[in-house]
Amino acid sequence: MDSIHVRGGNPLFGETKIQGSKNAVLPIMAAALLVEGVSVIENCPKIADVDHMQKLLAGIGCVIHWRNRSLYINAENANDNKMNSESVGKMRSSIMLLGAMLGRFGKAVMNYPGGCVIGARPIDIHLNALGKMGVTVKKEKNYFTATSEKLTGTVIELPSPSVGASENVILAAINAEGITTLRNAAPEPEIVALCDFLKKAGAKIDIKTEEGKVIIVIQGGVRLNPVSFRIPADRIVAGTYMLGVLGAGGHVFLKDAPASHMRAIIELAREMNADVNVTDKGIAVLADCITKPLKYLETDIYPLFPTDLQSQLLSILTIADGESVICEKIFEDRLKVVPQLRKMGADISISGNIATIRGVSRLKGTKVKAKELRGGAALVIAGIIAEGNTIISKRQFIERGYEDIARDFRDLGVIINNV
Ligand code: UD1
Repeated sequence: MDSIHVRGGNPLFGETKIQGSKNAVLPIMAAALLVEGVSVIENCPKIADVDHMQKLLAGIGCVIHWRNRSLYINAENANDNKMNSESVGKMRSSIMLLGAMLGRFGKAVMNYPGGCVIGARPIDIHLNALGKMGVTVKKEKNYFTATSEKLTGTVIELPSPSVGASENVILAAINAEGITTLRNAAPEPEIVALCDFLKKAGAKIDIKTEEGKVIIVIQGGVRLNPVSFRIPADRIVAGTYMLGVLGAGGHVFLKDAPASHMRAIIELAREMNADVNVTDKGIAVLADCITKPLKYLETDIYPLFPTDLQSQLLSILTIADGESVICEKIFEDRLKVVPQLRKMGADISISGNIATIRGVSRLKGTKVKAKELRGGAALVIAGIIAEGNTIISKRQFIERGYEDIARDFRDLGVIINNV
């Protein structure tokens, strides 16, 4: 009862609508803790990670309900109790609540966060940055307590532009005393979305770029008011479906796809001879089944090619006409999908964080298992381009970030079902 069945081998035609962004909505849900009154989050994706965050917030006293596609969060009566360990363990983004809890209560008690099994994923950058703002952390075996008598704005330079650590500093800085200057912040559009939400609620935040590095200046101690905010469309979901078309060939329209956030994947699609047409309503993609290999591609920090699309790209390169090389630079253990692709006939070798893919003429459908979110989506794409039937088990990993990947590919003419 937890699998996706797909019959492969046909091109994609039609239109599908791109859901709201997972990586934007999760920190914004955490930010709702800082708002005095109700936050209305429009275009909220109905995904498992949003459910987890909803459970975590409800567990500390927030009142939450859905109305159509909007999530209403009333954090008026929130408390600083220890957070539900099961939900924290299931999702790395639980760490987002750390900055928000410290901002709201000066205290947070939580387990070490979980999430995709794609590497060690430590939280040292988060804790060191918050430490500079006056936060003390007491570590226990399975959980930690972070406290601060008085959060204080200061200058913080991140050693590397971690997305999550940037979000935590921004959230903690809202109620800190004085100004926080965050240097070498992450440049991802989801950071901008968080700042837009906070600014709409009344926060004073300035984002600038100096010598290629992002600097975010936050004025502390500004009261946040009730706010409605629309979550931007998910660039990774749109990129996944674009890669599906590159692999299978066809002509599709990705309604609402956020082209301005997808430069790297659009450039790559054009390099692979796809015809990509950007309009203010979305992106049209016309492609022959992929034949062109990629000499060398690295994943990197935005706006370069995102690690969250690396596995899906790997899937389609398995049938390219020649050898491709992909280097995973962000997470040390994000090639977990490779053994599953090999079961389908892919010819891939791995050396450290580098995958060498020698294209074969066809993949063959078989039983495979999703091990994590994006690798799971990559197996769906592999099933779509393969000959015959593919059964992907453990679809709950995919549901962490895709509302219903089978529904969306059905929109594009694929014979695919949740079973
Ligand atoms: C976020 C995204 C994830 C994306 C990633 C990189 C969310 C919910 N998740 O994850 O989809 O793949 O950005 O774009 O937005 N690191 C440390 N110490 C830390 C923090 C990070 O060593 O304290 C390392 C990580 O292990 C990783 C790299 O820094 O190698 C990037 O991590 P980070 O940018 O923090 O990613 P996340 O916020 O976890």
